[in-house]
Amino acid sequence: MKPTPLSDLLKPPSLDAKLEALKQYGDLRMPDESEPPILNPPVREALHQLMLELSTPPEELALVGVKARLRGIFDGPPGTGKTTLMHHIAARLGLPMLVVEAANVASKYVNQSAEQVAKLFALAREVDVVLFLDELDALATNRSDNSGSVGQEGNKVVIALLQMLDRHDGMVFAATNRRDIIDPAIWRRFQVQMTVDLPEPEQRFAIVKRYSKPLDIDDETIGRISAVLEGASPALIKNVMESVRRDQIIGPKLKQDMSIVAVFRRIAASSAPADEGDQPPLWARPESALAYLADAPWPPALPKAA
Ligand SMILES: Nc1ncnc2c1ncn2[C@@H]1O[C@H](COP(=O)(O)OP(=O)(O)OP(=O)(O)O)[C@@H](O)[C@H]1O
Ligand SMILES: [Mg+2]
Repeated sequence: MKPTPLSDLLKPPSLDAKLEALKQYGDLRMPDESEPPILNPPVREALHQLMLELSTPPEELALVGVKARLRGIFDGPPGTGKTTLMHHIAARLGLPMLVVEAANVASKYVNQSAEQVAKLFALAREVDVVLFLDELDALATNRSDNSGSVGQEGNKVVIALLQMLDRHDGMVFAATNRRDIIDPAIWRRFQVQMTVDLPEPEQRFAIVKRYSKPLDIDDETIGRISAVLEGASPALIKNVMESVRRDQIIGPKLKQDMSIVAVFRRIAASSAPADEGDQPPLWARPESALAYLADAPWPPALPKAA
């Protein structure tokens, strides 16, 4: 192997080398403009305002003595679109994003997580990259909950994170579905705090409709499906509607009953919402939910094969 020339050793690491180094902490992605999540009106408006703020010239905001907010946290139940939302923001801004799975940093660098957090931020500062700390609860657990030796490491990480968040001048976003255990000092460091809740009826309808494509399902039927999925997360709705689509192809091959009641009975039997909060009617009261579906226009038209 040829020795590295001294001139190369003295050169500062290239941007590519820094990007490479960042990859040890997570997944470096160039998000593309995929479909945005369907959000309840308050979050949609808050997001709209944030996007406008981020694209407003700094001088304009400086007129009133403020800067655009570069630190944000999304919380809310699992499967409501927090991770998807962050991808959408990075794509709209045209910036690369480092998705840091907090649990990975915590487990990969046992006893050194605090140092690694500092290194991660130092690297991110030199590269224009959005830091996205997904599942932040794995790193920033409330200090009062941290006892024992694991807890001491946890405290060090929280302190390191606090310092880094204060100093960092790039974009840092985070997501959690455990707001209750996030250290409050960390929580306060995020200037934008958005709760991405379960969809309201109108949004639920739109989500059912989006994931019914390319089947052509009547709006009356979409409305009924949406009603029996009340309280379901968008991720669960997506799962159910993918099952509906799959069933339209597989069911006839098995000579199964293709009535809407039979289709949803099969789906209810082969999927179950996570055990948290109230179950949607399809699982909580299956017989009345299926009876409610029975009158809906069905079956949907299949798209023509290409
Ligand atoms: N609001 C939404 N509108 C449309 N699709 C959604 C929405 N929320 C989630 N989905 C779909 O559900 C799947 C899971 O979403 P995502 O991973 O963004 O949820 P999350 O809130 O980050 O969940 P977790 O808390 O478990 O990390 C994705 O495939 C996404 O497309
Ligand atoms: Mg997520």
